[in-house]
Amino acid sequence: MSNSLFRRKDVTQAIKETEERGSEHSLAKVLGVRDLTLLGIAAIIGAGIFSTIGLASFNGGPAVSLLFVFVAIACVFTALSYAQFASMVPVSGSAYTYAYVSFGEMLAWIIGWALILEYAVSNMVVAISWSSYFTSMLEGFGVHFPTWLAVDYTTAKEAFESVQAGGTEINDGTKRLAQAFQDAPSLGFLKIIFNLPAGMITVLITTLCYIGIKESRNASNFLVGLKLLVILLVIVAGVFYVKPANWSPFAPNGVEGVLSGVAAVFFAFIGFDSISTTAEEAKNPQRDLPRAMILCLVICTILYVLISLVLTGMVNYTELNVADPLAYVFTNVGFDTVAGVISVSAVVAITSALLAYQIGQPRIWMTMSRDGLLGKKFGEIHPKFKTPGFATIITGILVAVPSLFFKMSFFVDLTSVGTFFAFILVCAGVLYLDTKGMSKDAKFKIPYINAKYLCGILMVGALYFTYSQGDVMQHLEEKPLLFVFWATWLALSVMSFKYNFSLLPIFGILTNLYLMTELGWTNWRMFIIWMSIGLVIYFAYGYKHSKLAKK
Ligand code: ALA
Repeated sequence: MSNSLFRRKDVTQAIKETEERGSEHSLAKVLGVRDLTLLGIAAIIGAGIFSTIGLASFNGGPAVSLLFVFVAIACVFTALSYAQFASMVPVSGSAYTYAYVSFGEMLAWIIGWALILEYAVSNMVVAISWSSYFTSMLEGFGVHFPTWLAVDYTTAKEAFESVQAGGTEINDGTKRLAQAFQDAPSLGFLKIIFNLPAGMITVLITTLCYIGIKESRNASNFLVGLKLLVILLVIVAGVFYVKPANWSPFAPNGVEGVLSGVAAVFFAFIGFDSISTTAEEAKNPQRDLPRAMILCLVICTILYVLISLVLTGMVNYTELNVADPLAYVFTNVGFDTVAGVISVSAVVAITSALLAYQIGQPRIWMTMSRDGLLGKKFGEIHPKFKTPGFATIITGILVAVPSLFFKMSFFVDLTSVGTFFAFILVCAGVLYLDTKGMSKDAKFKIPYINAKYLCGILMVGALYFTYSQGDVMQHLEEKPLLFVFWATWLALSVMSFKYNFSLLPIFGILTNLYLMTELGWTNWRMFIIWMSIGLVIYFAYGYKHSKLAKK
């Protein structure tokens, strides 16, 4: 049994299967490096930078810009690992396929299951965020959308209860939600409250993905161009209103305050890897995927750091706990026109992020289905539109229904913890392939720095630094998850000594793991539950139906 759990897909075979599939069953090859970069940017810039950055800046102050740099570094190491894999295995499936060729079937399934958190669950956040911007945009045009039709039940009920309980911290937004709870029609005991715009936009975008990748690409390129212009507008217009005094103190709540924004900041970066799901639709995947991935990550990092500095420079960080920080700072300095333009464009920006994930998720399922780990239907290509039709529809339903009824914050954490896990396994996969001599023919390779001694030396240095900062044991008691981090570093040091591992993927594993420990035990527990459900499904279906099992 243990052998079959680790049965591995052969790289050459995977590429050959894709080539042999013929035009009847394969996807249209239309994407160039520019399209891929734009698809990446479409996936990266979305709800994160337009909304979750607000709370992160409120907690961390101007120093949150440094968190953007730190998270970006973790992402660059990961992107390099993705790029090496994408150049070796230029077929659909992203991290799932990479795990299949390196670690074998069970871990591949686990990654595929974790990627649902990154793609489908994150899109629930994006859809809900779209809905908030959409309704406030309508408000700007004087159209009032009933609030009970644009919020989830729990949020409205919590607002109602806190208004009932009284207290000094009830703001206008809470009052509005409480009123919506009262105004909502009832069906017996049940209040009818749901987020209609979130569901509607998901249905619309799913339809676009169903019709075709080419149409989706055209729409995406247009939307991304507009989105980049708006981000540049915020930076260029905002810089004139920056008061350097606002940057002091730089980290008002210390390192803890800054790190409390990890999930939100990481959420803003998620997406650069989604390009790898379109490998079969790229004209020259081995050359273009690595280029596009690094390019879009570099562009977004520069924009994010500049935006976070501009935001925290324009107003005091304590004012940034708002849902629409980019527009808010301009209203605050009396520049209402710019604020209006930003509100409208946020709706557009978030739409293109939605599109990117609705394209990515069905393609991962399609690959899993071809391998026999999911039902055949998931791999069917629509004869006319050349898209994975059934998988696209299921993705639409899976995202639309929860976004109608559930709260956003729960999904942000779940997305981040699952994505960190996938990233760590991709970096580890590169080490594995290098050690086995399987990446000799890769057209793109991560620059090699021998970690034989460096990994251990750096660990001793880091431990000494931590020790010099205070009581290590107390620190570990407060954050027991750090044990996992140090134990992993120790294991990597020993293995580097033995196998001459490459240093950069190790940095990828460690930076992602460190950030993952910052998400806390509650999120790890949710993640473990999610993974356990996945494993039950694997043993009930995939294990028996796997193509490799039949061989
Ligand atoms: N990075 C994506 C966003 O910010 C998930 O919406």
